[in-house]
Amino acid sequence: MTHQHSVESAIGILDSGVGGLTVVREVFQQLPKEKVLYFGDTLRCPYGPRPSDEVRRFTLEIVRYLSGHPLKALVIACNTATALALDEVRRQVNVPVLGVVEPGARAAIKVSQQGRVGVIGTEGTIRSSAYERALKRIDPRLYVVSLACPALVPLVESGREENENSRKILRESLAPLKKHRLDSLILGCTHYPLIASMISREMGSGVTLISSAEETTRELIGILSSHGLLRQGPARHPEEHHFFTSGRPEAFRSIAERWLHRRVRVEHAVLSALDESQVG
Ligand code: DGL
Repeated sequence: MTHQHSVESAIGILDSGVGGLTVVREVFQQLPKEKVLYFGDTLRCPYGPRPSDEVRRFTLEIVRYLSGHPLKALVIACNTATALALDEVRRQVNVPVLGVVEPGARAAIKVSQQGRVGVIGTEGTIRSSAYERALKRIDPRLYVVSLACPALVPLVESGREENENSRKILRESLAPLKKHRLDSLILGCTHYPLIASMISREMGSGVTLISSAEETTRELIGILSSHGLLRQGPARHPEEHHFFTSGRPEAFRSIAERWLHRRVRVEHAVLSALDESQVG
C-alpha cells in the first residue's frame, strides 16, 4: 500500500473520531511546513469497546483509504488502534508508521519522579496491556496501574462542559486510582487531553498528566529527518490540509475548528467496506 513517497507527500493521521486532532494540533505547531491528511472514523466511534479483530479491520480500511494519496508517514493517533493494529499496519504499508503508545510511555518515564505511573484509556487499550508492556520494557521497576474509563469518551463527545454531572463522572471514573499515590498519569486515549484540566483538578497537583501528542510529534520529526523527508520552504496554507470523516462533516468541523483555532476543510468519506451493521 501507498505511493512512492517524496518530501512533498503528506503525513497521514488517523483516529476513530476527533481525538486524533490533539496530534494534528501538535503537528501544526511543530511541523508547519508539512501537509496533513486526517481521517476520523466518527461514524464508528468509539473503537474502545469493540472486539480487537474489528478494531484491526477498521484501522486497515482507513489506512487503505489514506494510502490512495501520496503519504510519507502515517500516525495512528488513536490509542486503541495503536494497541491493537500497529504491527499489522506496519506490515502493510511502505512508509514509516508511528503509534501513540510508545511515545506516551517514553514521555511518562521522562517526567515520573518516583516511578509510580497510572494509565487511563479505553477498554480495548487497557485490555491489550500495551502501555504496561511499553513502560516495563523501558524500566521494569516501574509501579504501573492501568484503568479503563469508558465514561470519559462520551463526556468529551458531548461537548466537554464542566458541570456537576461531568465532575461526578470524573470522580467516579478516577476513584480507583486515588489510593496508589501516583506521580504521573498517562492520558492513554486521544480524547482525554481535551478534558485535561478537569482530570487534573480531580487528580490533584501532585500528579503530572502526560499526553502522547507532543512526544509523538517529536518522534515524527526524528523519523522524517532521518529519512531525509522533512520539507523545507514556507509554511503550508490551511487549504492544503484535508480532513476526512465517515460521519457528519459539520459536526466534525465545529469541533476541529474550536480545537485547532483555524478554519478547516472537511469532506465526507465513504469507506468501501462500511455497512450499517458496523455502526456502534
Ligand atoms: N481514539 C480512541 C483512543 O485513543 C478513543 C475513542 C474510541 O474509543 O474510539 O483510544
